[in-house]
Amino acid sequence: MFKVLIAYDTRTGNTSQMAQAVAEGAKSVDEVEVILKKVKEVRGELADADALIIGAPTQSKQPSKAMRDFLPRLSKVSLKDKAGAAFGSYGWSGEAPGIIEKTLRDKGVRIVAETLKVKGMPDETGLDECVSLGYTVATNITHV
Ligand SMILES: Cc1cc2nc3c(=O)[nH]c(=O)nc-3n(C[C@H](O)[C@H](O)[C@H](O)COP(=O)(O)O)c2cc1C
Repeated sequence: MFKVLIAYDTRTGNTSQMAQAVAEGAKSVDEVEVILKKVKEVRGELADADALIIGAPTQSKQPSKAMRDFLPRLSKVSLKDKAGAAFGSYGWSGEAPGIIEKTLRDKGVRIVAETLKVKGMPDETGLDECVSLGYTVATNITHV
């Protein structure tokens, strides 16, 4: 089985809804096991995962506090050869997903899907984009 870790933070639930739709898309691919966790609960899954999909809301033009605390932990494991992508909900400026993407890239993760930002609570179109993100990442690791 290939493992996809979806690690996210959320304050009012919007990024959580996105994360669940990303998980749905990834799970629809054969031979993929999805681990969906809030960043504060992530432990050894980081090293084990074949792909990391990381999401957070933007707060004060940055990823939320729990995500800012989490991102330095990515330096403690080798991320080379892992696939990844970033996502998050935002209100008006939406910097967090881009910052997460850059952090993943700097640590050697292969970014395999376009960074996804959704304004506010995801509507049907936004949820479809999340499903598609999960599917794209999962098919990338199973078809290399
Ligand atoms: C304290 C605070 C600061 C915020 N700052 C920003 C910001 O700088 N830029 C932005 O685009 N959205 C900002 N937002 C809006 C959130 O990103 C937006 O409400 C998002 O949908 C929240 O996602 P969540 O439900 O996953 O927490 C802020 C929200 C809060 C509560």
